[in-house]
Amino acid sequence: MFNVVVLISGNGSNLQALIDESEKEGASFRITHVISDKATAYGLERASNYSIPTSFVNRKDFSSREEFDEAIYQIINNLNPDLVCLAGFMRLLSASFVTKLEGKLINIHPSILPAFKGTNSIAQALNEQVKFTGCTVHFVIPEMDAGPIIIQSAVPVLSSDSLEGLEEKIHKIEHKIYPLAVRLFAEKRIKVNGDNVQVDYKPENNNGGYLISC
Ligand code: GRF
Repeated sequence: MFNVVVLISGNGSNLQALIDESEKEGASFRITHVISDKATAYGLERASNYSIPTSFVNRKDFSSREEFDEAIYQIINNLNPDLVCLAGFMRLLSASFVTKLEGKLINIHPSILPAFKGTNSIAQALNEQVKFTGCTVHFVIPEMDAGPIIIQSAVPVLSSDSLEGLEEKIHKIEHKIYPLAVRLFAEKRIKVNGDNVQVDYKPENNNGGYLISC
């Protein structure tokens, strides 16, 4: 079985989408562990609901970011997963951590990268009055919100959209493309050659107001 470890800091709705996919009959992956840097992250509860083991790693227990990252890395290394998914993990990971997991570490970001990196990406999109925004699943490299893009999905931004409304639309498509990306990964349908990512998947053209492309 293809084993996945998920890192979270909060609500964990993307974790839930991954769990739901992994619970389907004939699923191609399973989630073996969830790691959080927040003791109160709701995602930890979501994992426990499915008897998925969890770890809380407290940044305050470490004098440097590198030591904190190393503690997380040691947990991951002992589990030896096939893939590590950042799903709302709100910390920048050090270059050595990222390098050690190169090609096995992916993230979901709520914008069409390279637009609107960093936090508040959805508010940034609204402020810029773009006509489309969306989300991106990408490989993680030491630079924040960068790295080879695996799959993206777009939604229209309407002048009537509130921040909450747009957030909701984006979360909805995140919950489609993250499980899809992990499934394709597990099925060996994602091939990487440097910055070029080849994905063996024929995206739906337009389905209920969103577009998927990879
Ligand atoms: C998502 O919007 C994701 O793109 C970003 O953080 C948010 C996490 O939400 N990286 P959740 O915890 O999965 O609900």
